[in-house]
Amino acid sequence: MKSAEIVDLFTKQVVPSYGRYPMAFVRGKGTRIWDAEGREYLDFCTGIAVNALGHAHPAIAETLYRQAQTLIHTSNLYHTEPQGRLAGRLVALMGDGKCFFCNSGGEANEALFKLARKFGHDEGRYEIITTLNSFHGRTLAGIAATGQDKVKKGFEPPVDGFKHVPYNDLAAMEQAIGPKTIAILIEGIQGEGGIHPATPAYLRGLRELCNRKKLLLLMDSVQCGMFRSGRFQSFQRILEACPGDDFLPDAVSMAKGLGGGVPIGCIWARQPYANLLSAGSHGTTFGGTPLICAVALTVLDIVEKENLGENARRMGEHLKKRLASLNSPHIKEIRGLGLIMGIELKAGIPSLKAEGKLPSALFINRLHDQGLLTVPAGAQTIRFLPPLNLSLAEADEGIDRFRKALAGLQ
Ligand SMILES: Cc1ncc(COP(=O)(O)O)c(C=O)c1O
Repeated sequence: MKSAEIVDLFTKQVVPSYGRYPMAFVRGKGTRIWDAEGREYLDFCTGIAVNALGHAHPAIAETLYRQAQTLIHTSNLYHTEPQGRLAGRLVALMGDGKCFFCNSGGEANEALFKLARKFGHDEGRYEIITTLNSFHGRTLAGIAATGQDKVKKGFEPPVDGFKHVPYNDLAAMEQAIGPKTIAILIEGIQGEGGIHPATPAYLRGLRELCNRKKLLLLMDSVQCGMFRSGRFQSFQRILEACPGDDFLPDAVSMAKGLGGGVPIGCIWARQPYANLLSAGSHGTTFGGTPLICAVALTVLDIVEKENLGENARRMGEHLKKRLASLNSPHIKEIRGLGLIMGIELKAGIPSLKAEGKLPSALFINRLHDQGLLTVPAGAQTIRFLPPLNLSLAEADEGIDRFRKALAGLQ
């Protein structure tokens, strides 16, 4: 089918809940992806931080084939080796605790909310404080947790028990805590909100605050986790500035890159909270199937064997340096850690003005014209989320395409 025919199918038969770009993709390989007419793009979007190893990685294809011939699904009425082994790998990366598997980031956050409510239930505490500009998914509780009004509009009344305070503001967080508060939830790096990393002092302050007020410290690592920052968890990377710090949140949600492209969600909770979700209290039919967990194990194997956390760190530094050396009058700030990067454009660029369109979205169209896929994060910021195995040549090619798009601006 031609792109226009595929787009037509969507227009007629797919719910219009996304403002989709006009491209229709049919094939990918590594950092490259092709549309139905054979036009090639360099993929710095990776399905919004999902394809950690790029497209069509042979080890993922091989695992899918082998596991599909062995056992795809059993439900969670039974035990399967891949889920048990994946939980073991994640616990080894995180710390003493246990995992619950589901199918997406939104669902993983639901598990965090339920864990928190269970923790506070007998004391009548249920309120979770999150931050302004956060993003925690599209479920009803997810939009209530998200600190952005645009996701809530039209879906009132909101799920009770969420409030928001400014990010990286410890005093505001402490002030917001009330008798009903049970948990604090933050992203280690705000993703959708524009790529804003937490400061080391904020993370350590929140840990102390939660200890003092008997609150759970929850972290949403759906986007910033899975080695994207250079370490498995972004808080581990951020706290490298504080050697010897044994910071750990109480529970963490993960998804996206964990499956390298197959749908997975997960929470890790540390002891003594890991047993709060007792038999019958939470579940999902598909969570943690042998197929998905086998792929996630393969992704972890490759990331570790090829030291892709280190690659993400090096490529991130390289991209930042190259972007800075463009000396563009249109770039206000470059933020992020490793391969989760935000490039904030200056406000008021005349070529990025159009009725009802965000400047970031208009610039993304120009990047598409240059053959570079990226994703906006708010009104002014362009996100780079390339695969963790990005090569130096691909990083340079991406910058070249970005530079050409910048050069077209007035
Ligand atoms: C930080 C964060 N949390 C949660 C979600 C929701 O994940 P999903 O779209 O897999 O439900 C996202 C998705 O972008 C995210 O970035």
